[in-house]
Amino acid sequence: MFYRLAAPALFALEPETAHRLTIAALRLAPDRAPPADGPLGSEIAGVRFPNPVGLAAGFDKNAEVPDAMLGLGFGFVEVGSVTPFPQPGNPRPRLFRLTQDRGVINRMGFNNAGAQAAVARLARRRRVGVVGANVGANKDTPDRIADYVAGIRTFAPLADYLTINISSPNTPGLRDLQAEGELAALLSAIAGERRAGDPPVFLKVAPDLTGGDHERIVRAALDHGIAALIVANTTVSRPTLSSRDAGETGGLSGAPLHDLALAQMRRFRAIAGAELPLIGVGGIASAEQAWQRIRAGASLVQLYSALVYEGPGLARRMTRGLEHLMRRDGFASIAEAVGTE
Ligand code: FNR
Repeated sequence: MFYRLAAPALFALEPETAHRLTIAALRLAPDRAPPADGPLGSEIAGVRFPNPVGLAAGFDKNAEVPDAMLGLGFGFVEVGSVTPFPQPGNPRPRLFRLTQDRGVINRMGFNNAGAQAAVARLARRRRVGVVGANVGANKDTPDRIADYVAGIRTFAPLADYLTINISSPNTPGLRDLQAEGELAALLSAIAGERRAGDPPVFLKVAPDLTGGDHERIVRAALDHGIAALIVANTTVSRPTLSSRDAGETGGLSGAPLHDLALAQMRRFRAIAGAELPLIGVGGIASAEQAWQRIRAGASLVQLYSALVYEGPGLARRMTRGLEHLMRRDGFASIAEAVGTE
């Protein structure tokens, strides 16, 4: 209700200004407990998730509002991407609403306040609720792999899981880390850095993979102790779009990414089976779409763009809807439904 009133004002603002205002408001929001474990709960990679609806990386790049977002009903929140050092990202404008298409294009370029700022905030938390830390590499780093290793080390004591993001289209060359030799080098460097008791490491991939990419990535992930794949980041492809800013450069997300992300989920599930948990993200905006992604192979889902169009009540609406869909289809748990389409 409140969002229906506030949305026109937010939509009248330049998107990045609206986002900053939203974060500022969330920082002032009263404390609310994270969702309780219940019928939608499951354990993935040794982490207990109270429900499968997560907030994707990019919304809270600087770990300013993870608890406020958990308080809105998200089962988990992924902060970041954080790079070792602060960096400004690309020049503005760099964030575009594709309102008619219910999509977003961004070329933010890992603007963030750096690891130390995020660490300071995470260290002040009470640590209730599931928070993952998504790490990236600085644009001008001489050694990308070293940046990821540093990120893993830095955030291991402060996060429930860690995500290696090698799939942002907005840092030139970053996605090359998905190529065979580079991926093996990256993942073995990270495996070598891990200590007993560290949180699990997830790998986030692009939706623009083709041919043998999927097999290769699944094999590398399994070989190097990656605990789950996040499928997927924004796409550089362009389905037919009708919004004014459809021609902007950057990664496309929201409704226009839905079918591609779902197809990639199916492809990864066909290859990985139940061996490697998958987290579905891309264009999910309803309980029905989350359920479809779960049935296609996702153990958990995440979203970001839909929040812009559906407002802050979305996570709660989706978890209520998922409980209903789970019962309707005769499943006793989310885990039981994964990959059953
Ligand atoms: C993102 N996304 C993203 N992903 C990531 O791993 N690190 C990041 O820093 C960001 N930053 C970011 C900024 C903006 C403005 C958007 C819209 C997205 C990608 C995001 O986590 C997700 O993978 C895609 O947006 C697809 O999901 P939705 O938005 O269609 O639900």
